[in-house]
Amino acid sequence: MAATRPSTWLITGASSGFGKSLALAALNAGHKVLGATRSIPDAERSFPEFSTKGGIWLSLDPGQRDSYEQFAEVSREHDVDVLVNSAGYAFIGGVEDTAEEELRQQMEVNFYGPLRAVRACLPVLRAKRCGSIVLISSGAGFQALPGRSAYASSKFAIEAMHESLRQEVKTFGIKVLIVEPGAFRTPFSSRLLTPAQYESTDGFSPDYKGTDVERMVMMTKGLNSIPDAIKGCPDKAATEILKAIDGGHEYLRMILGKDCVRAMEQKLESLHSDLEATRAIASNVDID
Ligand SMILES: NC(=O)c1ccc[n+]([C@@H]2O[C@H](COP(=O)([O-])OP(=O)(O)OC[C@H]3O[C@@H](n4cnc5c(N)ncnc54)[C@H](OP(=O)(O)O)[C@@H]3O)[C@@H](O)[C@H]2O)c1
Repeated sequence: MAATRPSTWLITGASSGFGKSLALAALNAGHKVLGATRSIPDAERSFPEFSTKGGIWLSLDPGQRDSYEQFAEVSREHDVDVLVNSAGYAFIGGVEDTAEEELRQQMEVNFYGPLRAVRACLPVLRAKRCGSIVLISSGAGFQALPGRSAYASSKFAIEAMHESLRQEVKTFGIKVLIVEPGAFRTPFSSRLLTPAQYESTDGFSPDYKGTDVERMVMMTKGLNSIPDAIKGCPDKAATEILKAIDGGHEYLRMILGKDCVRAMEQKLESLHSDLEATRAIASNVDID
């Protein structure tokens, strides 16, 4: 399907998973696509169609502190219209078991990475008074399950930034989309990290044996192939995201996957329940 107006897309994490599916969908629609990756040789091996279809690889790691300047240069040189931040990974481990450095690294990639790319592209988008910023977030962007505090913190934080940003840049004609996928069939689940200090005890400290932390770590550890229970198709997700960007959208959040719909319903129920349980308290704390 040809795009009504070809535009220039910059996609991080384009060598794999959602980034790869989206890059392919955008190229097939006639857009120019720049794919940011940490390793061009690896990206060329895992996604050879990208170059043959006209995609341009860029050696760019959003998790590096100096990537802001690189993103700014790329966005100016190529006059970027659509930025998609897909690069990311999940750190799985209990709050007590996670070292501060492991949490910082999770934030560096999943929070500061997209933030750098967004800030660097904004001057170009503002100048042309149009464009789109897309964040591939997660169900973990609104629901923090046990053992997923580091990952969920990074996604909650980056979603908050985008929620603010949407209101700030509406006046410049720039659209913001937060994509919240459930479990999808990408290499993501085989790249999960767990607490290094508890490597010899399977990724959790002894006192957490038999708890939800052990269950979450064990469920996600050592997944070399994608479990059958994971039903989400990244190509179908890419088609829906492309339709939203090319066709226009008024919503901020796009939930993807039946599992994520259920998660959102649970979240809304629990927020509603807390609101009703504390409404009287909330209304009773104004000055007399
Ligand atoms: N798959 C799922 O079930 C799922 C569910 C919810 C949300 N998500 C989100 O979807 C996004 C894309 O994930 P995916 O499922 O497509 O997984 P993926 O196939 O593993 O792709 C993730 C990409 O992120 C980049 N990346 C990974 N670790 C990085 C690091 N430490 N520093 C910099 N870049 C790094 C890699 O790009 P290069 O190696 O090319 O640099 C990789 O191509 C992530 O933000 C993830 O949180 C995934």
